[in-house]
Amino acid sequence: MDSNFNGKKMDRALLKKQSTDNAVEEIKNRLDIIETVSEHIVLKKSGRNYWGLCPFHKEKTPSFSVNAEKGIYKCFGCGEGGDSISFLMKVNNTSFWETMVMLAQKFNIELPEAGVTSESSEYKKQILEINKYAAEFYKKMLLENKEAKNYLLKRGINETIIEEFSLGFAPVSADELIKKYDKDILQKIGLLSFKNRIIIPIQDEKGNFIAFGARAMADSQGPKYLNSPESPVFNKSRSLFGLYQAKDSIKELDSVILMEGYFDVISAHSHGLANVVATLGTALTEQHIRIVARYSESRRIYLAFDSDEAGVNATNRGAEIIKSAFSGLGEIRHFDENFADSTVKQDRTACEIRVITTNTGKDPDEFLREHGAEAYKELINSAPLLIDYQINRIINLNEKISSPQDKAKLGKEVIPLLSEIRNSIIRNEYIKLVAGRLSIDEESLNIEVRKNLQKVTYPQANKNGLLFKNQEEKYVLAQKNLLSLYFLNNEKFAPLCINNYIKEVELSDTHLNLIKKHIDEIIDEFNDSDKLFKELLNKLAENEEAKKVLTDLIYRVEDKKDLNFELLEQYLTDHILYLKTYQVSERQKQLRASYYADNNDDTSSELHQQKVKELISERRL
Ligand code: CTP
Ligand code: MN
Repeated sequence: MDSNFNGKKMDRALLKKQSTDNAVEEIKNRLDIIETVSEHIVLKKSGRNYWGLCPFHKEKTPSFSVNAEKGIYKCFGCGEGGDSISFLMKVNNTSFWETMVMLAQKFNIELPEAGVTSESSEYKKQILEINKYAAEFYKKMLLENKEAKNYLLKRGINETIIEEFSLGFAPVSADELIKKYDKDILQKIGLLSFKNRIIIPIQDEKGNFIAFGARAMADSQGPKYLNSPESPVFNKSRSLFGLYQAKDSIKELDSVILMEGYFDVISAHSHGLANVVATLGTALTEQHIRIVARYSESRRIYLAFDSDEAGVNATNRGAEIIKSAFSGLGEIRHFDENFADSTVKQDRTACEIRVITTNTGKDPDEFLREHGAEAYKELINSAPLLIDYQINRIINLNEKISSPQDKAKLGKEVIPLLSEIRNSIIRNEYIKLVAGRLSIDEESLNIEVRKNLQKVTYPQANKNGLLFKNQEEKYVLAQKNLLSLYFLNNEKFAPLCINNYIKEVELSDTHLNLIKKHIDEIIDEFNDSDKLFKELLNKLAENEEAKKVLTDLIYRVEDKKDLNFELLEQYLTDHILYLKTYQVSERQKQLRASYYADNNDDTSSELHQQKVKELISERRL
């Protein structure tokens, strides 16, 4: 009986493990590296691979490469590398199983054994649960509070919009929440500070309630807004208000409008403008931009900040952030709609920045309520490109200046703008325009601009090996180069053949050793570069460091694929010889050291004689 019971239990455990394995396998199959990475950075195809700005270190020219065919990525700047799962783990700062759980949810795949969920993910879950409950509670309270309902009504917000944004009202007492949840946590996530305020929930892209904004209803009640503090689920520099409600529209219209305030976004929605989001009382960040770039393929971004001085500054700063987020990915669209080639994805501009100004000193919410949706749409349709906005602003502010010194000073302001335009025809047109309007000598302006021209270049993989210039020891590098040959995908050098060549080579690097060990185990079954690679990825699924090295091998083999048979063979034998020689000289060093350490001993001892013999025989190799 007992053993039968145990047997059944075993069976069940085994079944569970099998279906977990299957689920993991399916998740891996569903993952697409381009799709995965593109959710976080902008990629552009160049040569065989895709390139973008590395999310793991700060850079201005792209050295982050994605190999779509192999499903891997590698940064030539910081050395990070791996597959889709490594990428997600790293970018979201999650464990293997946390990542799996997230992906299982996303793909709607049942994952029976989710491994151990970490404490931090439990805490995140808890905050989201409390916030969800709180949002429901605030919504209910709004329906019961006439003053709050009236406040929204007066701001032109109807029930549909209240529903869409889950707007609510926080009463003075939070007892209802305290009854249900731990007071310390409520305090920590800010829910105890909202009293007698309109509640504006902040949702993530999936609709989770990650934080709240809370507006006072009367001018006498300060401050105007209170916001949830940052928490494990709420990072201001990565959250955009309204994105959950706006994302479909951003995709559909292929453009996004960035505003400043909660009510600008809400008001835009109630006027039928849905591709609108706002930062949360903070400056725009590169992360914000990368997030919206996921939804607008052309990366068409409208800045619709307030037209006061703070707003103008925010526009200029925001523009810099956007440019920086896309720098190196191509030109910013500094010309008009009918420019050719916009259908060729590869040739598309990096982004298009336009500026919406109301010129009335009103924020978008006030403008919309006063002049209506059509008038605002008009502003959108005639919104100038960033360069036009900036140049016009400078011209308008300075049209009256006349002294040469003032003109030179002014030149300093426009020159950086003009020298960003990489298309020389367009650049010259702008130079003409500026020179004319400000009566500056065109040729002089031209000279100054040219001095300033910046060149942005793409790193080309494998040219002269420049990208591989790093601090690794030559020895380890040679081992990597050698092992990379397993992935040549060359009939004449199938993995088994390579294995024969390098049978006797010793590897010093632990990860390379591990990879080689796995290769030896499976090579009979997987004598094909692609299959071998896939199987190795499976074997190393949870070993991030080894996967990074494996990825490196794949990138390393690229430039060898063009070598003919003779050259490849020579490459192989050269490397093997180099490694063997190196190993011998290392051993010699050790032997010699040990030999001299024995100096005082009896030179006729057997041990010593043995050492001398080894030393001599090694030398003969
Ligand atoms: N903000 C904030 N805390 C404040 C003031 C502002 O968090 N004390 C943030 C809010 O996200 C607000 C945005 O900054 O939506 C813009 O501020 P402001 O222009 O002052 O407010 P409006 O959005 O115009 O708010 P309202 O229309 O309700 O007056
Ligand atoms: Mn406002």
